[in-house]
Amino acid sequence: MKHKEIVELLSEMTIEEKIGQMVQISGDIFLSEDTSRILTGPLHDLHLSKEKVYHVGSVLNIVGAERVKKVQDEYLSKSRLKIPLLFMDDIINGYKIAFPIPIAQGCSWNTKAIKEMTKISAMESSIAGANVNFSPMVDLSRDARWGRMMESIGGEDPLLGEIYAKTIVKAYQGKNLSDIGKIASCVKHIAAYGAVEAGRDYNTVDMSEREFRQYYLPPYKAAIEAGAEMLMTSFNILNGIPSTVNKWLIQEVIRKELGFKGIVISDYGAIKETITHGYSANETEAAKNAINAGVDIDMMSSIYANHLKDLCLENQEIEKKVNESVLRILTLKNKLGLFENPYGNANQTKEKIYLMNSSNLEKAKKLTQETFVLLKNKNHVLPLEKNKKIALIGPYIDNIGITGSWSMFSDRTKNGTILDIFKEKMGSQVLYAKGCEILRQEEINKILSADGLPTVHVENEAQREQDMIVSAIQTAKKADIILLALGEHYRQSGEACSRSNIALPENQIQLINELYILSKPIVLILFNGRPIELNKIEEKLDAILEVWFPGTTGAKAIVEMLFGEENPSGKLTMSFPQNVGQCPVYYNHYNTGRPHHDNLRYVSRYQDIPTESLYPFGYGLSYCDFKYTQIHLNKHKMRKNETITVTVKIENQSDYAGYEVIQLYIQDLYGSVVRPVKELKAFKKEYFKPHEIKYIHFDIDLPMLKFWNEKLEFVAESGEFKVFVGGDSVNVLEDRFELWI
Ligand code: BGC
Repeated sequence: MKHKEIVELLSEMTIEEKIGQMVQISGDIFLSEDTSRILTGPLHDLHLSKEKVYHVGSVLNIVGAERVKKVQDEYLSKSRLKIPLLFMDDIINGYKIAFPIPIAQGCSWNTKAIKEMTKISAMESSIAGANVNFSPMVDLSRDARWGRMMESIGGEDPLLGEIYAKTIVKAYQGKNLSDIGKIASCVKHIAAYGAVEAGRDYNTVDMSEREFRQYYLPPYKAAIEAGAEMLMTSFNILNGIPSTVNKWLIQEVIRKELGFKGIVISDYGAIKETITHGYSANETEAAKNAINAGVDIDMMSSIYANHLKDLCLENQEIEKKVNESVLRILTLKNKLGLFENPYGNANQTKEKIYLMNSSNLEKAKKLTQETFVLLKNKNHVLPLEKNKKIALIGPYIDNIGITGSWSMFSDRTKNGTILDIFKEKMGSQVLYAKGCEILRQEEINKILSADGLPTVHVENEAQREQDMIVSAIQTAKKADIILLALGEHYRQSGEACSRSNIALPENQIQLINELYILSKPIVLILFNGRPIELNKIEEKLDAILEVWFPGTTGAKAIVEMLFGEENPSGKLTMSFPQNVGQCPVYYNHYNTGRPHHDNLRYVSRYQDIPTESLYPFGYGLSYCDFKYTQIHLNKHKMRKNETITVTVKIENQSDYAGYEVIQLYIQDLYGSVVRPVKELKAFKKEYFKPHEIKYIHFDIDLPMLKFWNEKLEFVAESGEFKVFVGGDSVNVLEDRFELWI
């Protein structure tokens, strides 16, 4: 359709039809034969009349070509102007093929790998009828208590967030949104959702504008610059005003300053929640606040549907805003080619050929391997030697629940468990004992009841637990090495999964303690969605392979990695705390006036634990041993238009080939406002042959040195800087230079 035709279409629409476009509901309703459900079923609480339901502009979480077509047909059959519905979904880490959860993907430090995963995910989703994906989540996250750490692609670093945001948006959207394999990206959650106080989901965010601009805004900005079609508001308040009705945020920053032209959608029910926040006095005011702030679509509340019309009748300015919003929505539908073909790229035949195809599964496995982080490898216990007897123990050894809490549509059945893959490799003689459940029933029951599901009583749980441990010990006694697969339950990280205890569950710790007594090497494969508190168990473990929730091909990817067919290359994007009391702990913090110093009392420290994290940002081992030496700067004074080249010598002192992520950090030593102790400015992921030596170069230029100064101007200031290069944010070589401007 030409733009002119869209404008004409807009002019033909009644006010009810226009407002309908700005409402999003769950699509299930259109699948029901019995339309009386519309009034009595799940939409009853939304207080939407049947007429209004058939005016809505979009639905969420309906996917699958057949379902999408059915819903679209049902909707269009009753719609006057035949404006197709938009289908929006949460395809967070893949559709049928579940890829590693976002926190894991980020640890690959490999934009090509992330692009590839995103493209496969976009292709699977597009032929399954999705038009818009609520992804990526680019909220900078520093607090391991927050359950949504698992969704944070850039972790605690704004540069990673920026780079990944751009990569993902482009991979989803391509050049032409109507092309097969392309979907619109809805970037979330504006803004600063990752900074919720105490890591408690949906909680308050209060921060200085400088902090916001320096750390939290860059990933959203990068996504906008990459052409993201949609942004989702966050549930939190930001400096006193709910994000969803925050005019400064949406109008001033997002639209005016960053030039965002696309659609702003509220999060699930968030417009209505502005009343609960104590900001909007009633539903009418909530509607007025949201439309004035610039929210185009009301997700899962009836505030727009039931109140915008009266507001338009009262005030022409609001009607103008409604017209602008509807034009944006129709424009997106047009870009997706829905006016020509309301099914979009939904195609059952293609689904049969493409979904879960073997070539994509093979790619997925390789990409998954890039996301594993080797946290510990004492005495090179890994890779495993095939002639050693290995005892497989733990609730994740024979478990397909490794796709993460957002993986709603994935096909979990096809790719086997660690146990299956071991049997394939070693024959059926493997030593296996479950050892324990992931969680005690009491804890599972808490999750079930929060979901409104019936709880379960387990008879003699304590005795069963004891029996499992005994059997695990017997199994372990027959082996040379114990391979433990433990971790969080997949429902312990994700939305509404904030936790004050981020250690492994008690029953799992008990299992480790009992096995430790056997004095055999223990290798832990760790499944989780957030940095875990490991301090109580770390010393008892010889190796730790962090695999997060690795997705469909996870088991195969893990076993190959353990046997050295692949070499770990992932690096943490979030610091692992010593214990939860340190949260939030992150590498790019400010210095205090009294930095930590052993043997001094009145310094910034904890009495009981070290100040630094257990595993820092950027950290991750390899089967290779990389040695960094000879940092060299081609000059030590830099003027405005100049660059400095930093070179470092890296030697792979091992017989293995592998990848290393070389990281460049900078510290501005004195500024008009204090600057962080280190900031990531560049990185390279390089392949090394056994014993290969490479000289790696980085260029430092002026934009890398800019920050928001005391007047909130984005500038670089003359002065002295430190430059660090290393394989993580702590073990670095350093030098200094001066900037003269
Ligand atoms: C989440 C969003 C998600 C939306 C739609 C909300 O509860 O915060 O991230 O996209 O639901 O499912």
